Amino acid sequence: MHKRDLMIYGEPVLRKKARSVRDFGEYLDELFQDMIETLIEEVGLGLAAPQVGESVQALVVRAGAGSEETIHRLLNPRVTVLADEESCVREGCLSLPTLRADVVRPARVAVRGVDPQGRPVEFEADDILARALQHEIDHLRGVLFTDRADPGSLVWMVPDEEDEEGFRYEPTTLPEAEQAFERLRRRRAAKKQQA
Ligand code: NI
Repeated sequence: MHKRDLMIYGEPVLRKKARSVRDFGEYLDELFQDMIETLIEEVGLGLAAPQVGESVQALVVRAGAGSEETIHRLLNPRVTVLADEESCVREGCLSLPTLRADVVRPARVAVRGVDPQGRPVEFEADDILARALQHEIDHLRGVLFTDRADPGSLVWMVPDEEDEEGFRYEPTTLPEAEQAFERLRRRRAAKKQQA
């Protein structure tokens, strides 16, 4: 297994509706292992297959913490909202590095899908797991958190040694962020060509 390159905002695959999985086989083991490796190395909460360039309905999400941590592997997921209650959290995404924005989402959901062996899976989630699942399922439909965010809340996380947390937030706009990601994609492509 190996870590895959992350697709950055602007890659067409991030805007495609991913195809659902109908046949289950070893190619899925490899995809999931690579996704988990990438998730762990990039210190993410969740990852969807389009973020590693595969337009299939597959996602991984971390749940629990420490030795209790498990990583859900889910295919063809569907989400059902369980309560009117919503929460607003400052969200980010590995495909939009260092960008954050406030996103309102339902606080409790039920998720149905299949596991990598093709067995049906169904569970309920709240709090951060519910949010991560909705964020990753959005990816499978070509939706990014900036589509749902309050545009006035867009900020960059900027490293700042003076700050207690090691970073500060700087306001930005969507066009500014899009340009920054375009430059980042070009830099990464040039670096890859050199390697
Ligand atoms: Ni994301």
